[in-house]
Amino acid sequence: MTTTTLANDLDIRGLGKRYASTQAKGGSLQVLQAIDLHIPSGQFVSIVGASGCGKSTLLRLILGLDADYEGQILLDGAPITGTGRERGIVFQDHRLFPWLSVEQNIAVGLRNAPFTQDQKRDLVRQHVALVGLEGFERSFPHQISGGMAQRVAIARGLVNRPRVLLLDEPFGALDALTRSRLQGELQRIWQKERITMLLVTHDVEEAVFLGDQVVVMQPYPGRIRRIVPVELPHPRNRSDPAFIRIRDDVLSDFFDASAVGPSETVPTKPGFSPRGSAVQLAW
Ligand SMILES: Nc1ncnc2c1ncn2[C@@H]1O[C@H](COP(=O)(O)OP(=O)(O)O)[C@@H](O)[C@H]1O
Ligand SMILES: [Mg+2]
Repeated sequence: MTTTTLANDLDIRGLGKRYASTQAKGGSLQVLQAIDLHIPSGQFVSIVGASGCGKSTLLRLILGLDADYEGQILLDGAPITGTGRERGIVFQDHRLFPWLSVEQNIAVGLRNAPFTQDQKRDLVRQHVALVGLEGFERSFPHQISGGMAQRVAIARGLVNRPRVLLLDEPFGALDALTRSRLQGELQRIWQKERITMLLVTHDVEEAVFLGDQVVVMQPYPGRIRRIVPVELPHPRNRSDPAFIRIRDDVLSDFFDASAVGPSETVPTKPGFSPRGSAVQLAW
């Protein structure tokens, strides 16, 4: 693995984060510890880990919502400062404004962008098409499905042409069919746009289906347990034995008691194997 930073690479070095806590020893809770992550420009990185291991905190720091951390977050070799157009985010709940139409909600992503009105209109049109929502431009959030609302959120995250898109469990609230359709869509968009994507997910199969590398985190404090490279060509076939082998390898981390918290021990019985068990863990 190279340690040099190339154009648009995202480099996270020795990242640590504490929150003030009256209950924790020393008055603060160590949420992230010694996170080192090198993400080449254009890579798709999946992050999986038990609830509370700091995944959302990590994305918040990369987004620039909180500058109180140890270590470095470098984009294109320069430390990030605050939020910026080059970093977009999509959350689990779509966070659309109910009183704005689909196109107006997407245009919200362009509020502070240095484009003319015509350019903004064009960008919104392109991104409506990118997520397959032509014909729904004037619809309001209550008139579209959960999957479509999440497409709007993805378009809003991309409309500013960010270099990095952060996705925090974007499909977590969707039914299985919609989820798998949107995974395919996200992959198509990623291949077309060639931007760096960081996806936090509870779904190990989703992580392996989409990721060039799968970062497995563990809690107390949140840190990287290991990084699993997924060197299979895209789009991936979920029934390919090589895919299943990697998926089961990542899953096995969650059947090891040290990877989960004290109250989250996974029930096992002698001879139990995660192979063939549900791949979406109910953390
Ligand atoms: N603003 C905050 N103040 C104090 N503690 C927080 C705050 N945000 C998150 N935490 C704590 O940090 C830990 C990690 O949270 P989070 O990043 O949301 O984890 P994850 O996304 O992996 O579930 C949790 O123990 C959570 O309670
Ligand atoms: Mg979270």
